[in-house]
Amino acid sequence: MKLAVIPGDGIGSEVIDSALRVLRRTSRVIDSGISWDVFDWGAERWLTDGVGLPDGAPHLLRANYDAVLLGALGDPRIPDMAHGREILLGLRQGLDLCVNYRPVVLPGGTVHLYRENTQGLYAGVGGAIRRGGIAEVAIDECVYTRETVERFLRYSLSDLQRRGSRRVTLVHKSNAVPNTGSLWQDVFRRELREFPDLAGNEQYVDAFCYHLVRNPTQFDGVVTSNLFGDVVSDIGAALMGGLGLAASASISPDTGFALFEPVHGSAPDIAGLGIANPYAVLMCVVLLLRHCGFDIPADALEQSLSDAVRTEVTTPDLGGIGTTDQFTGEVLRQLDLK
Ligand code: NAI
Ligand code: MG
Repeated sequence: MKLAVIPGDGIGSEVIDSALRVLRRTSRVIDSGISWDVFDWGAERWLTDGVGLPDGAPHLLRANYDAVLLGALGDPRIPDMAHGREILLGLRQGLDLCVNYRPVVLPGGTVHLYRENTQGLYAGVGGAIRRGGIAEVAIDECVYTRETVERFLRYSLSDLQRRGSRRVTLVHKSNAVPNTGSLWQDVFRRELREFPDLAGNEQYVDAFCYHLVRNPTQFDGVVTSNLFGDVVSDIGAALMGGLGLAASASISPDTGFALFEPVHGSAPDIAGLGIANPYAVLMCVVLLLRHCGFDIPADALEQSLSDAVRTEVTTPDLGGIGTTDQFTGEVLRQLDLK
């Protein structure tokens, strides 16, 4: 298996170091081994030669690698995040990564969240009417094509079926946002007919947030549009115990090609201190291994992570006294015990 690794900025490269230590160990138990190339796309390169995502990058990744592992992007010297948007949005759109899967792992079960990742309010359609350089009217349009909603829902529903899920909730706001809202409802109801084992229901996003916080594990599968998914999955991260724990996979429904990244950003407030929590990136490695068909090492790593998180060498965000290195060392120790 060959991976493209993009450490990115701030704690991105610190947690990726941890992931590479674990991948080196996991490589030994996989017949073909695991190799990778590291790409320096991020703030440093943007500031020195003005390159964010090099031309042809999506094709290069798709043609030469089995999957992408990304740390995080974001640098205080680039306050508008121009480089991050170019790289992240460029990869999402260029690789057609319209399904974003974010598991919310809780003691009572896992909530499987799927967010559409390329259209909606993030489609980049809009503009502003300015007077003397000051915006008086600003517009961001929510754009959805039936084709994208269909491809997104088909993939997400079949993924849920494969996981053995029995229930799926569509999160929407069709009372206030009727056009895209009813497009989503229509496609959801049609697609569900193909999945008789999945019971579907629909919830307004505001009510959903309320119920998610009150009793998260009443939900099993959740499918939603781009903005709602972005917001709701941060609630999921908080329910799990923090951003340092939340992992995500972005997948192309047509090719199955996928990019794995922690939900957190580059955390400039703790960058360089060596205390970033690598749990989220290591959960990304679990998702990556499983996606590529390596279930046994994925299960072993997931179990090692949950054992390591019960020791005192967890990082300070979880109330522990450990460093990134020490926590990674504990995960490797747990793996050796298996
Ligand atoms: P952030 O996720 O980087 O940090 C929020 C808070 O959580 C901070 O206090 C940070 O120390 C803590 N935190 C995050 N990850 C942690 C970890 N693994 N271990 C321990 N503590 C952790 O979000 P923030 O501060 O809003 O954004 C910082 C930069 O990251 C910005 O430039 C932002 O645009 C970018 N960003 C990038 C993302 C990406 O690459 N996909 C996602 C979110 C933000
Ligand atoms: Mg977000």
